Amino acid sequence: MNLLSKAILSATVALALTATSCQSAKFTGDTLRMDMNAYTEGTVSYKGSEIAYRAYEGIVYVASPVDTDYQTMNIYIPSAYFEGGEVNGYTAKTAPIFFPNTVGGYMPGPADQPGLDPHGKGPNSIFCALEHGYVVASAGVRGRTSGKVTTEFFEGSVGGTVSEATGRMVGRAPAFIVDYKAAIRWLRHNADAIPGDVERIVTNGTSAGGALSALAGATGNVGDFEPYLREIGALEGRDDVWAASCYCPIHNLEHADAAYEWLFCGHDDWHRTKHQRTDDGGFVRVPDEGVMSVEQAALSPLLKALFPAYVNGLGLVGEDGEALTLEADGTGSFADWVRRWVVASAQHELDTHDNERNRVWLQVAGSQIDAQGYLEVRDGRVVGLDWEAFVAKISRMKAAPAFDALDLRSPENEEFGDEHVDARHFTAFSTEHSTVAGAELASPEVVRLMNPVPWIADDNPGVAPHWRVRHGSFDRDTSLAIPVILATMLANKGFDVDFALPWGLPHSGDYDLDELFAWIDGLGEKS
Ligand code: DHB
Repeated sequence: MNLLSKAILSATVALALTATSCQSAKFTGDTLRMDMNAYTEGTVSYKGSEIAYRAYEGIVYVASPVDTDYQTMNIYIPSAYFEGGEVNGYTAKTAPIFFPNTVGGYMPGPADQPGLDPHGKGPNSIFCALEHGYVVASAGVRGRTSGKVTTEFFEGSVGGTVSEATGRMVGRAPAFIVDYKAAIRWLRHNADAIPGDVERIVTNGTSAGGALSALAGATGNVGDFEPYLREIGALEGRDDVWAASCYCPIHNLEHADAAYEWLFCGHDDWHRTKHQRTDDGGFVRVPDEGVMSVEQAALSPLLKALFPAYVNGLGLVGEDGEALTLEADGTGSFADWVRRWVVASAQHELDTHDNERNRVWLQVAGSQIDAQGYLEVRDGRVVGLDWEAFVAKISRMKAAPAFDALDLRSPENEEFGDEHVDARHFTAFSTEHSTVAGAELASPEVVRLMNPVPWIADDNPGVAPHWRVRHGSFDRDTSLAIPVILATMLANKGFDVDFALPWGLPHSGDYDLDELFAWIDGLGEKS
């Protein structure tokens, strides 16, 4: 078929589908109906690879949006699916719907486009997913800085000036997951018109965006979100997903301070690199380091002491059915379990040198597997790990408390604010130790809506059946215990979990898209 006849064919298909959608819009007054005629055509190419797609951009997925900068979705569909074609063995009927978000730092995540990754990882996930034959739906969602201009920038964020100073702080918890769910419902509502299989939606995100992905995976169809969904005119219907891909999810916030001190207590110096947005839409890295004050250091053991009760209440079990618990001093089978994941990561890198070979641009300097004196290696096997030396090597990034700041100035404090109260505590500990007169504690209901773990623990029937969780072994944005709890609980509940702490990697995501897509491809039949 020549190019001209291809173009005519695709135009014909578009018109045919549009006729159907217009009819249905007329009879139902359905403003949330996909207009299949409202597309542009594009191709993306990178190093010789090219993919033609149809782009449906700027779709407002709720009837009563409160922030149209963010509550929009872009949908990209390989053109082949409008011509009865296949891409990578998938068809218009069977292609999974890749559903990435661009949330970082609990900030708003605008709908994204195929292009280059802002962190220099090459083509972004949307580009690669299209090339791989997935339908891509990129939903924008509100965040804690919706309504104000900010120079903050985080892993998972995209570039560009995305915040407008409306002064209306309409993106605070649980807005991001409410929007994500509304967009999922919109996709299901339009399933008959859009190529792709709505029963194979795969969420993806990094850091706070990884938490969002985990929340979508854990809270499918949970009725507690209904009032929030109704407020923005979301469609009714199911919002559960098939699979959740979570890179370094910054989640379980109300237990993250204790988990952090369980790992870093006794290590008082902190090292971090802040990202700051620049006027040209890019960002710069600003190194920042220090030592905890006497007051901060005194909080550390108090927070650490809270962690065993939390872990022991989870009822987690390890591979051999052993209870994963902690003694009052923080030692115990759960500590051994976390350590086993680190050793497994080291062993994998020792066997493959995968990150050293393929992700040297991302690996933390000095993390090369053969240069880690705290690992004892015999005959190619990692047989020992000096835990405290490992913790000193990866080093603390945040002073205590790491998340619920006593002065209410952490990103998470702002996330738990609302239109009227700028920031709140979300732990009893920091509320008690607050340095801000009259500081409020967020409602337990909202805190719970922001944490995937309790919904999995309480057997929500809408939990996604498939999960992939990655957290770099050198990622100190949250404690290594946090992703281990998530993955272990999922496995204990019988879900399909692919979990790893890739060796030497920092707080980052989308660095192994080939593996991610191979995992997705392995979850179901292609045709
Ligand atoms: C992110 C990183 C953090 O350290 C944090 O506390 C919250 C969010 C992020 O990169 O999204």
